[in-house]
Amino acid sequence: MSDIVGSAHGTHAPMHPHLAQRFSTTFGGEAQCIAFAPGRINLIGEHIDYCGGLVLPMTIQRGTWIAARRTSHGRVRARSDNYHGLFDAPLPCAPDSADDSPWARYLVGVLALMAAEGIAIDGGVDLFVSGDLPTGGLSSSAALCVGLAITIEALAGRNLPGGRPALALLCQRVEHEFAGVRCGIMDQAVIALSHPHHALALDCRDLTHTHVPVPEHTPCWLVLDSGRPRALADAPYNLRQQDAREAEQLLRARAGMGSLCDIEASEFDAVAETAGIHRDSTLWKRARHCVGEQARVRTAIDALRAADWTRLGRAMRASHVSLRDDFEVSCSELDTLVDAACACAGVHGARLTGAGFGGAAIALVDADALPAALAYIESSFASRFGRTPPSFIARAGGGARLLQAPA
Ligand code: GLA
Repeated sequence: MSDIVGSAHGTHAPMHPHLAQRFSTTFGGEAQCIAFAPGRINLIGEHIDYCGGLVLPMTIQRGTWIAARRTSHGRVRARSDNYHGLFDAPLPCAPDSADDSPWARYLVGVLALMAAEGIAIDGGVDLFVSGDLPTGGLSSSAALCVGLAITIEALAGRNLPGGRPALALLCQRVEHEFAGVRCGIMDQAVIALSHPHHALALDCRDLTHTHVPVPEHTPCWLVLDSGRPRALADAPYNLRQQDAREAEQLLRARAGMGSLCDIEASEFDAVAETAGIHRDSTLWKRARHCVGEQARVRTAIDALRAADWTRLGRAMRASHVSLRDDFEVSCSELDTLVDAACACAGVHGARLTGAGFGGAAIALVDADALPAALAYIESSFASRFGRTPPSFIARAGGGARLLQAPA
């Protein structure tokens, strides 16, 4: 693969090498369309999308590919490279038809919600899904949903009214209603809306956004996979969100504040006191993270625009400390990766990326410092966990797109 460390600047063709062939072997005949939806790293702005915050994610060159065609068998048949077995159910799918196949719940959800918008493929559809994202931290489920949604649009010959923002919101509903994850909108929006070579400064209140250029070569974004699986649907993600909402409600009711992300970091202690949120309590820590993270995102956007890597790196480190100590979503694997990275010359900053509880970390590393830094990070991690963390260099990847449109 061309993005492995050591060939960081190779080009990654956005076409999966064997997808068309796998489609034919599975279903016979040819796919009519092929879609690609990228994964993402979040440069900064963690756990504030569901509070209406401003965040700075970036799509990457890795992601999910989908080959598909319309049929007349009246069913949806789907296979994924990453999971065993063929999912096969009559259309329209019963909501519980994928209960035994967690990945196919996303498919059932996208089909159902698209059909409710008048974009249905009643005749039948065959889909083959493949990807090169690790399972945790880089938004593989959002990539799957957005990829499926643009595939269905292409096969149906009709786009969702409301365009890509509406498509992102529909995919977020799939997570809420079919996977039980009360996620924010960051992942679906960045995958739906990004431009190549840019990160997305995204206001999660209303999806307004600007594209912030990301230099292609130095420094580079090193992605480190902790290898610790993270089940988003498990309680912790939803619980953290409940904490943030509870703090927000208290601040609104008792201190007249709006969103957590509207509070200035300098006024936080005073308004928290007015709201009766005790210093150092769990709610105080959760709220302090959100308020501080919002300020760090603004700093980071300015720093990225100014190519001020020292400043950007400092904001990343502070973000990790806050996620570790106040929001309490890190874990020993992620802390080890981030601490080791931050101890290296030529590393400007590092942090966990995504929801936490496992998944991936990112480090901003000068290209010429990369070999030595990576060797140190790998040996620090291996001496503690007895294995080498997989890693690769992320490049700003652009949004979800059709690689082959139906004729
Ligand atoms: C997951 C969710 C996002 C966001 C991040 C944390 O990736 O899908 O909506 O909340 O966690 O920033």
